[in-house]
Order: sequence, then structure tokens, then C-alpha cells
Amino acid sequence: MVEKICQVCHGLYGQATGAGSSVLSPNITAQQKDYLIAKLRSYKSGKIQHHQMNIIASMLSDEDIQNVAEWYSSIEIEITLPEID
Ligand code: HEC
Repeated sequence: MVEKICQVCHGLYGQATGAGSSVLSPNITAQQKDYLIAKLRSYKSGKIQHHQMNIIASMLSDEDIQNVAEWYSSIEIEITLPEID
């Protein structure tokens, strides 16, 4: 699912590619699983309107939503803070 669809815009690891959309797609690497699930359900139900994500989310089963949320939320990142004067 991620390899077939999501990666076109969000990247395999959740770093947006800049492709496929007039609006830059958000980075979703290491996002909380519950947040990803909630967002995808909202796009699926139409509670959040976005022409591309509404179409994409409508193709996802509950199991697909669990799986893609598990994938992007389980990627670990390291944070480097900017220097502060
Ligand atoms: C055609 C490009 C495209 C594809 C393919 C795509 N997305 Fe998106 N996605 C977007 C854009 C653009 C947004 C921002 C939408 C908005 O402003 O509401 C978005 C938003 C999201 C958000 C909400 C992020 C946030 O922080 O609010 C999630 C989660 C998400 N996509 C997951 C996925 C998953 C999972 C897939 C694969 C099943 C996928 N997307 C496929 C373009 C895409």
C-alpha cells in the first residue's frame, strides 16, 4: 500500500517528495499512530475535505489504515536542535 500509493507523494519513509500534488505533501515520518489513523478516517469519511486524500482514503480498508499508520509511526528519527544564542 505504502509502496504502491503513499510513497508517490509522502515518500517511502514519510518525507514528502514534492510530486503528485500542487500543494506540497506533508512529512509524516514518525507521526503518532493514533493521529495518522484519525486523519485517514477523517479523509475517508469526508470530515476533512481534500480532493486527493479523500479519493485515496476512500480506497483504504480499516486494515490498510492500521497498516500504513503502523509503518509511518514506527520509523524512528533523531532530532537535532538548532543553535540558540
Ligand atoms: C497525490 C499525492 C498524495 C498521495 C498519493 C497520498 N497523499 Fe496523503 N496527503 C497529500 C496531501 C497534499 C496532503 C495534505 C492535505 C491537506 O492539506 O489536508 C496529505 C495529507 C495526508 C495526511 C495528513 C497529514 C497531517 O499531518 O495532517 C496523512 C496522514 C496522509 N496524507 C497519509 C497518506 C497515506 C497513508 C497515503 C497512502 C495510502 C497517502 N497519504 C497518499 C498527498 C498525497
